[in-house]
Amino acid sequence: MSLLRIKKAADKIRSDSKVLVVIGIGRSYLGARAVIEFLKSEFHNEKASKDGSTEVYFLGTSASGRYIDDVIDLIGDRDFSVNVISKSGTTTEPAIAFRIFKDLIEKKYGKEEASKRIYVTTDAHKGALLNVAKENGYERFVVPDGIGGRYSVLSAVGLLPIAAAGIDISALLEGAKDAQDEFAKDEDILNKPSILYAIYRNILYRKGFDVETIVGYEPQFRYLFEWWKQLMAESEGKDNKGIYPTSAIFSTDLHSIGQFIQDGKKILFETILDIDKPISKRVVPAADDNTDNLDYLLDRPLKEVNEAALTATAQAHTSAGVPNILLKLDNLDEFNLGSLIYFFEAAVAVSGYLNAINPFNQPGVEVYKTNYVQDSWQTWI
Ligand code: PA5
Repeated sequence: MSLLRIKKAADKIRSDSKVLVVIGIGRSYLGARAVIEFLKSEFHNEKASKDGSTEVYFLGTSASGRYIDDVIDLIGDRDFSVNVISKSGTTTEPAIAFRIFKDLIEKKYGKEEASKRIYVTTDAHKGALLNVAKENGYERFVVPDGIGGRYSVLSAVGLLPIAAAGIDISALLEGAKDAQDEFAKDEDILNKPSILYAIYRNILYRKGFDVETIVGYEPQFRYLFEWWKQLMAESEGKDNKGIYPTSAIFSTDLHSIGQFIQDGKKILFETILDIDKPISKRVVPAADDNTDNLDYLLDRPLKEVNEAALTATAQAHTSAGVPNILLKLDNLDEFNLGSLIYFFEAAVAVSGYLNAINPFNQPGVEVYKTNYVQDSWQTWI
């Protein structure tokens, strides 16, 4: 993988495009969206449109015409580029989205200029998308062989859109490398956090806790959790085994599924992700009077209020028989996120082997895909 070429392509996109449309499904978009929203917030695009930097929209994750219409409306007459990502090159939903956007971009810029605005990330040797890219002279990046898609966020699959969003991909990779070095260094497996996490979740699984809910108290964790769910589900859910991965954002979801967690059937345990260093300095402000009875929180940082919610909730849930695992990240930045990505990837690999399954294949995903291809799709309408 040429990091330099990824950075150059991202710089070009940032200089000539107000919008990058990323087309892909599953592995081909989850990692990039997770990293962008985790580091930049779920309002990344709204903020980018205010400061003139590049917005990133993800398409091809469904066959929804309405979603495509909305993104086309949002782009309006602004300059845009496309990064289409598919290893097979035959996945129906992204293939349709790419057909639509190839036509749009060619109509807007002409074929030649359009070919400089389309970036293809696909298999190095085969596939329909590779052929289209070669025929049209699009810049190409490789979805590496031998790395299950859900483990590919730190390859060109994730790195090009992430860099186009203005994120320091070198720091992200350094964080992952640091975690990998730590993992390789110590001989005592009980000093390796990812192995401990794998062991704890497997002990709980064997005690009958079949569901793991990953929980965070910041809305910008949402897509990291979506990525985590794919990583866990595709790695472990096979041979009629596996922990079912779900996610929740608290306090929001405490007011919905919180009821089930507290009082419902005891099938789940929670893994809480928390960040030590505050990511906002906002405090509870003074008011003209104390009719809302909130003065007991006067001048307290919202970070503290959120931490109190975390601790109070953990106490309530554990006392009701819901086991909690707490994961602490030092800071919300590229380096720490890179380490966290490595941590989860190592943990699920170990966890899969503890369950005697292969954590690197995903035969189940292919069943619907082969049902839905050219020769058979009409069966379903
Ligand atoms: O992990 C998987 O195998 C799937 O989620 C794929 O990522 C998804 O189906 C996209 O496949 P492709 O990159 O071949 O279009």
